[in-house]
Amino acid sequence: MQAKVVIVGSLNMDLVTRAPRLPRAGETLAGQSFVTVPGGKGANQAVAAARLGASVAMIGCVGDDAYGEQLRAALLAEGVDCQAVTAIAGESTGVALIVVDDSSQNAIVIVAGGNGQVSASVVDRFDALLSQADVIICQLEVPMATVGHVLKRGRELGKTVILNPAPASGPLPAEWYAWIDYLIPNESEATALTGVPVDSVATADAAATALLASGVGKVIVTLGEQGALFASQSGSAHFPAPKVKAVDTTAAGDTFVGGFAAALAEGKSEPDAIRFGQIAAALSVTRSGAQPSIPTFNEVQGYQP
Ligand code: RIB
Repeated sequence: MQAKVVIVGSLNMDLVTRAPRLPRAGETLAGQSFVTVPGGKGANQAVAAARLGASVAMIGCVGDDAYGEQLRAALLAEGVDCQAVTAIAGESTGVALIVVDDSSQNAIVIVAGGNGQVSASVVDRFDALLSQADVIICQLEVPMATVGHVLKRGRELGKTVILNPAPASGPLPAEWYAWIDYLIPNESEATALTGVPVDSVATADAAATALLASGVGKVIVTLGEQGALFASQSGSAHFPAPKVKAVDTTAAGDTFVGGFAAALAEGKSEPDAIRFGQIAAALSVTRSGAQPSIPTFNEVQGYQP
């Protein structure tokens, strides 16, 4: 039987424009292309975990509109259990307005729509899914109160609890840290959480030390092409990133989180799960879009540096 990963999080339709560079305030730029692509950090992580070997269920909300139907269909096509993807009457589906520039960097504005309706009572209706999980993953694109509720419930149930604190604008509630087994921020999120400016392996280590002192189990700071910093009470280790030519970094972090979770749930060691997630994320940045860019298990297994 495949390991079970349950994700409580967001589903967005990504409205993606490619432009030579990101626009400045007040500026109108001519874009080169426009596509709509299934995304949302929660749904991206669900697709990543499913493509990368886990049995996955998603808990989230969409609007009762065409985008909501398309996002649900995209997850179903990957074999994700969508019994807990709830369509809210009169609500719009979450969207993300994304600009990707010629250097593969992006800027994203999200409008929550249905994601804002993922309440603790919605989650409680699907408590049986949480009970069956091996690993539970949350991000921060649904209400904070709900995330706290899920982390606490995951800890009560004795599950492996992962928080990808994205997007983060400040410190997390202090009581959350004891409920988290793996906290996985990127540089800017680690900075927002700790106040330590993170832009290198050394500064990531400093931020991770502060997070461990807050009571979190283990920390993985993702650093893009600088790799990842893993830290626990036993010490820290740097994992260099596979070298690839980046086309679009959207959902690279989500691919890492989903891949890491799938590998961990399958019983891989932490170093092997980190390397597996890193290869998956590296392959994802060589392709455009969020969910379409996420590789399969066989692609990751067959990766040659
Ligand atoms: O992490 C990438 C995702 O962030 C995009 O798919 C977009 O929907 C935003 O949520």
